[in-house]
Amino acid sequence: MSPTGRYQAGITLPQPAQPNLLAVVADVDHAVAAGLLLAELGQSIRTLTSGTDTRLLGLPPGDLTVTIGVGPRLVRTVDPSLPGAADLPRFSREQIAPQARGGDLLIQICASDALVIPIVAAALLHQAGDRIHERWRQSGARGSNVPVDQGLTAPRNPFGFIDGIVGPHTTAEQQRHLWLAGPAPVAGGTLAVLRRMELDLPRFATLSVADQEAVFGRHRATGMPLSGGTIASGPDLGAKTPDGRYLVPADAHVRRANANAVGVGLMLRRSYGTDDPAPGLLFMSFQNDIRTFTNTLTNMDNSDALVKFTTTTASGTFLILPGFDQQHPLGAQLFH
Ligand code: HEM
Repeated sequence: MSPTGRYQAGITLPQPAQPNLLAVVADVDHAVAAGLLLAELGQSIRTLTSGTDTRLLGLPPGDLTVTIGVGPRLVRTVDPSLPGAADLPRFSREQIAPQARGGDLLIQICASDALVIPIVAAALLHQAGDRIHERWRQSGARGSNVPVDQGLTAPRNPFGFIDGIVGPHTTAEQQRHLWLAGPAPVAGGTLAVLRRMELDLPRFATLSVADQEAVFGRHRATGMPLSGGTIASGPDLGAKTPDGRYLVPADAHVRRANANAVGVGLMLRRSYGTDDPAPGLLFMSFQNDIRTFTNTLTNMDNSDALVKFTTTTASGTFLILPGFDQQHPLGAQLFH
């Protein structure tokens, strides 16, 4: 998977996303020139993904992608008014150790071959040396993909529901909702949110299937909205039973998180299941306006039936840097 171009790989490409992921979040030493560090990492990403790097020990990289983001502190050193300069606020049901909140650098590594991921992580971390200090890391895996729509598939999440149906999937929607059009230092980037959640699977499993479906607002087996249609249909939030009850309940996740209901744009969700320290989800979303995430979660916090099955144990937001190539090093657009 070529890492170069207008956008970094690992967000919309490949589609479907690779089954394995490792996210490493680190701080950058305050005395370090971030631009030089990022340019070096970008150069390594080019050799690692092309399979020409001796540190891969001859292993084929396959569809390996490495995606780099920088945290709010680093963005503020350039210009505190840029997208990505603001830390995430606090939300309900968080049990986040100080070490697992925020961070200066995101290294997101994805591949079909789980073996190459820790080797790539070790190579990049060794290269950065004592210029960076790891804060937290999380590995994750995605289940097999279910067809949703032309060219679109989505996996099931640990609750058994198909996850990743609604989002900016067309090029036009991605221009409008996903990629930053400007200002110049961030054009071609996007804003990532990572939230590691422990899930109360034992309690969820005691619910009847109908009650599980009421939590999400879609059918578990097919992904079809409770208001009808096909898996690719958006939920009809106004649809009611003859006796006046909403088909998609008032506290269903797809209602509380619905972009029109919240009044925000679309987010691209690309989450991975986790098993350490407990079964859970590494929720990941990408959007060009951070309010798309913060306003949605605020609306969920008030009354989303899903939220009470989750405890968030790590959280961060990162400006995913614009794409790069040999002439335009990673990070050069932001840290000239
Ligand atoms: C444990 C955590 C979560 C799980 C298991 C989960 C799962 C799901 C599932 C199964 C769907 C329906 C299918 C789909 O459209 O992909 C969905 C929809 C959605 N989720 Fe989540 N989600 C979680 C947390 C979040 C969070 C934290 C946000 C953002 C703040 C979010 C935002 C959305 C949005 C925007 C939709 C589309 C709603 C629509 O328009 O139909 N989710 N989620």
